[in-house]
This record gives sequence, structure tokens and C-alpha cells, in this order.
Amino acid sequence: GAPVEADVSKLAAGEMMTVEWRGKPVWILHRTPEMLAALEGHEGRLADPESAEPQQPGYATNRHRSNNPDYLVVVGICTHLGCSPSEKFAAGAASGMGDDWPGGFLCPCHGSIFDLAGRVFRNQPAPTNLEVPPYRWLSDSMLLIG
Ligand code: FES
Repeated sequence: GAPVEADVSKLAAGEMMTVEWRGKPVWILHRTPEMLAALEGHEGRLADPESAEPQQPGYATNRHRSNNPDYLVVVGICTHLGCSPSEKFAAGAASGMGDDWPGGFLCPCHGSIFDLAGRVFRNQPAPTNLEVPPYRWLSDSMLLIG
């Protein structure tokens, strides 16, 4: 499949957009400072907090899993059996996910949970973090995926 351009100039902080690449949904989440801060403090509850699994770009092997911390770019497909996880961005009890929920995503099929970097929690059906596709920035607001 051909690379796809995504214009994020109108994507406000806290919002997510989806573009299609190779028939897959790719999520682009413009993280707020609060969302970035929420990536710390629950490392011990994650299966692979530094995202060390090899089959992903090198710039994904860090806490925020991106080459620009403000933007998360991941394939929006659960790594268990391919369902589409739902947004659970709000932290804490308001999310319905419990007091210690840092914000993230919930897969409706078998309940796997992921944080706001797409990192899977321990002991979930999903074996790995959400996939980070190859991408680069053509400008401050134009992303090239693929
Ligand atoms: Fe997501 Fe099974 S497909 S938890």
C-alpha cells in the first residue's frame, strides 16, 4: 500500500483522528500535557513499559512510543484477536475503569486495556502493545504514514 498523508493542524489537544493505511485504521492522538504526565507512575502494571518488542520502529521504544511526544500514532487494532479498542481517555473513577486508571483504551471483545501510549497492561489477553506504524513528519502538522 501507498503511504498516506495526515494533516493534524486542526486536531486539538485531547482529540484523536483516524486515517486508513493499508486497510487498517491508524489513530493519531494529540496528547495534552496531562495525558503525557499520565504515562508515568503505572510502569509496574504494564507488560512492556519501554516497548522493547522488536517488530516496531526504533522511535517507539520509549515511554511515549512516538517520535514527537505530543502525538501518539498507532494502529487501532487490538493485538489479541483484532477488535477495535474504545477510547477511555479520562483518568480515574470518572472513566468507569477504577480510581487508578491513567487513561487509555479498552478492547470490548475480551477486555484488554492499554494506556495512552498504547501500552498493554499485564495479564491481558492482548500479548503486546498496540502496533506503531512507520511514519515521519513532513512538517509540524503533516504526517506521512507508511
Ligand atoms: Fe481485544 Fe481480544 S480482541 S481483547
